[in-house]
Amino acid sequence: MSDHLKRRAAEVAAKTELRSGMKLGLGTGSTAKHFVDIVGERIRAGETYLCVPTSEATRIQAESLGIPLTTLDEIGEIDLTVDGADEFDPALNLIKGGGAAHLREKMVAVNSKRMIVIADASKKVAVLGAFPLPVEVVQFAHNTTARAVARAFAAEGITVETRLRKAKDGSTLVTDNGNFVLDCVNSGIANPGALAARLDSIPGVVEHGLFIGLCFAVYLGSEDGVAVIGKTS
Ligand code: A5P
Repeated sequence: MSDHLKRRAAEVAAKTELRSGMKLGLGTGSTAKHFVDIVGERIRAGETYLCVPTSEATRIQAESLGIPLTTLDEIGEIDLTVDGADEFDPALNLIKGGGAAHLREKMVAVNSKRMIVIADASKKVAVLGAFPLPVEVVQFAHNTTARAVARAFAAEGITVETRLRKAKDGSTLVTDNGNFVLDCVNSGIANPGALAARLDSIPGVVEHGLFIGLCFAVYLGSEDGVAVIGKTS
């Protein structure tokens, strides 16, 4: 999506959802970045927010904007988390983790009263899975874990190829949490809840990018405006 549509979705979400005094979860990625910019603008205009970033990249951005930050441990329940997504389906189940931040993103989302996504139409799918599912795994015996992950997909009737994610310099990507990421190229995830349960049960899997029943609404940016899908606040 072009950058101005990301900004537009973030602006409408901010206008509709933000109230001074809120405790916020700040998402990660090129779309969520715009929302973080807007929170910075609101703070400079005199509003108050206390925020938890979902990645080191977002923490660095937020700090540069003077946004007051705390930790998930300190903040207790978050009022609102705004994040991007790699895909969302009609039930607002998500694939996240294209930026390898899905572990912290999910921990922040589940501790939020409300989690919303800002996105564009390219992220809307009938069935999740065209975007390879990111699965964060511990470094120890990651090939063994990859085989277990492949069996979990197979048990759901899904063909899969697991690819160890590389960083831009060609080295194996290491997440903010010191783990590896398997990108699971697959034939389509008809029952994301069932696959999520299987992946959750594999020792060595830290977290996968399926967000089931966590997203309340998607703000969908397009040249025609911003549509809201889901439950408004
Ligand atoms: C980060 O790990 C992801 O979950 C992002 O939220 C997701 O990849 C969306 O990123 P973009 O807004 O850059 O597409």
